[in-house]
Amino acid sequence: MLNIILFGPPGSGKGTQSEKLIHQFGLTHVSTGDLLRSEKAKKTELGLLAKKFIEQGHLVPDEVVIGMIRNKLRGNLSGPGYIFDGFPRTVVQAKELDELMTELDTEITIVVSLDVDESELVKRLLKRGETSGRIDDNEETVRTRLEVYNLETSPVAKYYALQDKLSVVDGHGTVDEIFERICIAVSDKLNQKVI
Ligand code: AP5
Ligand code: MG
Repeated sequence: MLNIILFGPPGSGKGTQSEKLIHQFGLTHVSTGDLLRSEKAKKTELGLLAKKFIEQGHLVPDEVVIGMIRNKLRGNLSGPGYIFDGFPRTVVQAKELDELMTELDTEITIVVSLDVDESELVKRLLKRGETSGRIDDNEETVRTRLEVYNLETSPVAKYYALQDKLSVVDGHGTVDEIFERICIAVSDKLNQKVI
């Protein structure tokens, strides 16, 4: 299986590049942000709980997110692999994902970390906020999301670096240029595994 984690701060292009990777490799998309927004729209108990965290730009509690991921993966065992977008976001989530992958007799192949300057991230998110309807794409919440990323999520990169799975990719430039860099990183990692 090919299991890719697309890692990076808010606005780094995880969703945009996921779409292209799904098309290229036929992977199943697992975006915790999309799953939570869908629960919120359906006004489920989980969605109502998640709403206040998303609105404020804070992380939804680990146990809620992990439960949701377990349900999603257990019901979806077929296909060539997964692309994880916006998950894991804490070291606790990363450890749980490792355990889950082992249970499914597979593993994470590569963690692609999209590196983008903070000023560019803010610019992209505020621009998207003009039309997206996402309640967290406003200046105040974007600032909080970036702080939460730096404090709570960035340590996840080190967790995977220690497993020799982290590949940092320059996330500036056109969508196609970045996609090409990601494809090279994935192919390098697959070649490294064969050798
Ligand atoms: P989530 O939905 O995951 O949002 P995020 O990580 O904050 O990131 P975004 O989706 O805003 O950005 P992206 O990296 O996907 O970039 P995109 O491709 O859209 O999470 C939202 C909330 O849910 C969290 O704050 C939290 O509350 C909760 N949550 C989710 N997962 C959780 C978890 N695991 N644990 C706990 N809580 C969780 O691009 C952004 C914009 O830039 C778009 O408009 C795009 O068109 C544009 N763009 C993309 N690439 C380029 C480019 N190369 N040049 C110019 N513009 C570009
Ligand atoms: Mg996204």
